[in-house]
Formats: sequence, structure tokens, C-alpha cells
Amino acid sequence: MRKLIVAGNWKMNTTVPEGVELAKAIVEKAKGLPAGVELVVAPPFTHLASVADVLKGSKVCLSAQNCADHEKGAYTGEVAVSMLTSIGCQYTILGHSERRQYYGETDEKLVVKTKLALEAGLKVILCVGENLDEREAGKHFDVVTAQTKNVLYHFTADDLKNVVIAYEPVWAIGTGKTATAAQAEEIHACIRSVIAEKFGAAVAEDMTILYGGSCKPSNAKELFAEKDIDGGLIGGAALKADDFLGIAESF
Ligand code: PGA
Repeated sequence: MRKLIVAGNWKMNTTVPEGVELAKAIVEKAKGLPAGVELVVAPPFTHLASVADVLKGSKVCLSAQNCADHEKGAYTGEVAVSMLTSIGCQYTILGHSERRQYYGETDEKLVVKTKLALEAGLKVILCVGENLDEREAGKHFDVVTAQTKNVLYHFTADDLKNVVIAYEPVWAIGTGKTATAAQAEEIHACIRSVIAEKFGAAVAEDMTILYGGSCKPSNAKELFAEKDIDGGLIGGAALKADDFLGIAESF
């Protein structure tokens, strides 16, 4: 069975006290959420331990936004997967377009990070998506296919049980410009076929594929109604508990 997930990527927003308050509000409101939808929050590293305390005993899962590409050692400023699991982190986002664009994240590095995360028992939310130039040049299917293959084809069908994909067209992130449900669906279906090609139809069917990019309560219903869209990776709208839960109630 495919899992439905709504994950909130807080990016570099909120102070620790503000993040704790936001997490508390999400936990409170999540009590009314029907079973079958998993909520995930991804605060900045500094917030993780405090937010983990807030989430204890709730249905909300904790995610990091990134992890190091080494196990431990002299890598100033980096955070290892073992540090994340030690405070109860269950997920990490990897390959967000902002990391690819501003911090030189490559598919090769993502293979290493994904391997470390999975070995440590972390689930991975792997982001893929084309930028505006690539879409306008009609290359969006090729870009997303390559990003998916370049990372996931290094893993096994068993590994994929702990991987979620997030399709996030870069031109839709933080711009207020959402992909139409039809535009998102055709890419989600493409990603699923890329997975089926290597791992078989059953594995592809079970894969959770999220949409991200200006997703909000007013457009989530239409997006989530598509057969290959299994939830969302939410940026801006994840910073308000009401909006975040509004999206989670859109299935
Ligand atoms: P957005 O960000 O919802 O603010 O567009 C989504 C993301 O980058 O994960």
C-alpha cells in the first residue's frame, strides 16, 4: 500500500522557540487528522532535538533537511546521520533544488548521502525537478528521469521501501506558481515508470511520490486527486499550522 504523506520543509525559517510553538500547534491540530495520512516536519538542525521532544507520542514524524556525506570526523559545519538518528529523527530530505542550486549538491553526492541515511535507518525524501529553462526547452521529462535514475538505480527494491520521491519543479517553488494538476501528474507518472523499468511494477506502485512547489490548502485537493500524486512537500504553507493541516486534510 502506498503511503500518503504531507511533509513540511521549514527551510531556514523560525527561531528555536518559534519552531517549538509551531510544532506544538501542528501536534495539537494533527489529532483530528484521519489515520492513513503521515505528517512530517523538517525544521532546521538547531531545532531538531527540541522539536523531537514536542513530537514524542504524536503521529508527527521528524525530518532533517539534509545530512553529511561522511559518517563522522573533520567536516566542520556538517551533521552526520548518526547524530540525526540519536535524537529521534526518522527522515531526511535530500537533493532539494536549493541545495543543488546554491550548495553544489550533485547526484553523485546524493548517492553517498542516501546510502548513509538508509544504512543508519533514516528514510529519505529525495527531491527532483526541472528549472524554468529546462521546462521551456521541453526537457523536463529528461531532467527528472536522469535525476531519478542517477540516484535510485544505485539501490535495491528493498532500499526503495524507505525512500519517498518529491517532484518539485524549481519554477514553482516559493513563486506562487503551482504546476497544474495535469502537469504534475504527467511527471509523477513518468517517475513511476522509471522506477518500474528497473524495479518492476509492484515496487513502482508502492512508491510514495510527493508534489512540491507553492502547494497550499486551496490547490492541494486538485493535486492530490491525481492518481500518481501521494501528498506534498510543503515550504511556505508549512510555516502556519492551519495551512499545513489544511493541506493534509485535502486527500
Ligand atoms: P514552497 O516550497 O511550498 O514554498 O513552494 C516547497 C519546497 O521547496 O519544498
